[in-house]
Amino acid sequence: MQLNLHRAELTISAVHPRQYPATGMPEIAMAGRSNVGKSSCINKLLNRNKLARTSSTPGKTATINFYNIDDQLFLVDLPGYGFARVSKAEQEKWGAMINTYLDKSVPLCGVLLLVDARHKPTTQDVMMYSWIRERFGEVTVVATKADKLGITKLPPALDLIRSTLGLSENDTLLAFSGEKGTGKDELWQEISRITGVEL
Ligand code: GTP
Ligand code: MG
Repeated sequence: MQLNLHRAELTISAVHPRQYPATGMPEIAMAGRSNVGKSSCINKLLNRNKLARTSSTPGKTATINFYNIDDQLFLVDLPGYGFARVSKAEQEKWGAMINTYLDKSVPLCGVLLLVDARHKPTTQDVMMYSWIRERFGEVTVVATKADKLGITKLPPALDLIRSTLGLSENDTLLAFSGEKGTGKDELWQEISRITGVEL
């Protein structure tokens, strides 16, 4: 890999658009429900345990975190949606923050939609899928926590994700494990294809 993954750092935790980095470097964002494994996915991609903060309590990531990877691209960690136990006002604030970023970021090349491999995607997942497809024409869906499903249960679980979201043949669905590293190389290939950054 020519991309130096040791050169990865948090540039900024942004709330407001004026805080987004202005380098013009390509950005790729992780979207998905609270607790689905967005921050863990970033850590696994970078072979780091604690760069992105994770927690078994949903609602850990509360800002838009831009990780600069070797001055080549930003991996963008978003707050999760759909966490019932944070207040309605807080949920709305996060929702607005996520939507503003997705609408306003010019260098945004793509959004990875993370869903839990074990569960049927929610209405909010379907909405996010539609939005990504509308803007980018194709969607990369990452089924996280694949390590929690046995080898026989994974294919039907992926079928349920495919049918619930209504994936088209342009879309990509990858099984991933932030625990074991399953799917990491394939996900880097996707990120490279989407951002145009050579690995
Ligand atoms: P928010 O920031 O709250 O939106 O959550 P998040 O999507 O960033 O999830 P996070 O990465 O913090 O992970 C949530 C919990 O799931 C943590 O306890 C992780 O250790 C666990 N987890 C994440 N990915 C995996 C995975 O692939 N396999 C297993 N077994 N556990 C995982
Ligand atoms: Mg997080």
